[in-house]
Formats: sequence, C-alpha cells, structure tokens
Amino acid sequence: MKKTALLFCSVLLATALSATAQADNEVKTTMKSIGKSFGTAEKTDDLAVIKAELATLRESVTQVQKLVPEHLKNQPADSADRKLYTEGLAKLLTQIDAAQAAANSGKLGETKVALANLKATRNEYHKKLKP
Ligand code: HEM
Repeated sequence: MKKTALLFCSVLLATALSATAQADNEVKTTMKSIGKSFGTAEKTDDLAVIKAELATLRESVTQVQKLVPEHLKNQPADSADRKLYTEGLAKLLTQIDAAQAAANSGKLGETKVALANLKATRNEYHKKLKP
C-alpha cells in the first residue's frame, strides 16, 4: 500500500515537473515549429506550399517575439543579448515579408533567395545567442 502511494506521488511529481519544463521552454518549442515550417518551405518548389508555410512561420515568429529565451530570463530587458534577440526577430519578420511578397507575385527564384536570407539570419543569431 505504501509503495503504491509512493509510486502515485512520484508520477504526480514527474507530471508537474514536465509541465513546468514545457512552459519554461516555450521559445524552444516555438523554434521547433519554426524550424519545421522553414524546412518544408525550403525543400519544395510548390509556391502554394511555400506560401502556407510562410504564413505559419510568420505567426510563430510573432508568438516567439512575446517570449524570452530561458537563458536570457535573468538578464535585464535592455541587456545586449536581450536586444539582439528582439533585433534578430524583427529582421526575420522583414525577411518573411519579402519572401511572402516574392511568393505572392509567383516568382519562385526570388522566393528561394528570400528563404536563403532567412537562413542566414537564423545562423547569425543562433551563433550570437547560443544557450
Ligand atoms: C528561419 C529562422 C529560424 C529557424 C528555422 C530557427 C529554428 C530553431 C530551432 C530548430 C531551434 C532548436 C530548438 C531545439 O532545441 O529543439 C532554435 C533555437 C533557438 N533559436 Fe531559432 N530559428 C530561427 C531564427 C532565430 C532567430 C532570428 C533568433 C533570434 C533572434 C533565434 C533564437 C533562438 C534561440 C534563442 C534558440 C534557443 C532556445 C532555447 O533552447 O531556449 N532563432 N531555433
């Protein structure tokens, strides 16, 4: 009986801890979905698919803009890294706009170039803001 109660408590604790970890890692979770959309857009030549993924990507970026990465939470809002985070996402949004404009005018070549710009921004800021 005691053992059952102990097991029950452990399960409860584990569930609570994983729920907290999930909430704490919102940037990571949202970045994962950004990565998924970007990967699909990058791999296809189908402009309709690219447009749909860019719309999802844009939505996720506006979500992640409201969050603070876990490793930057203990820094003041005006710290160099917190500013970099804001700056990088703003840059990404302008590049998404450009990619959407190119895709909407049916220009696959230009859309691909615009997507490559997004990737460069990702690489630049991931390097600067590595957790
Ligand atoms: C299209 C552009 C981008 C893509 C596809 C992308 C994708 C990803 C992926 C897949 C991860 C790893 C998630 C994991 O650990 O499983 C990640 C992490 C991260 N990204 Fe991005 N990212 C992009 C742009 C950016 C930009 C512009 C910034 C900052 C200005 C940024 C900041 C971060 C940070 C801080 C993490 C670490 C989160 C954490 O573990 O707490 N990303 N990103």
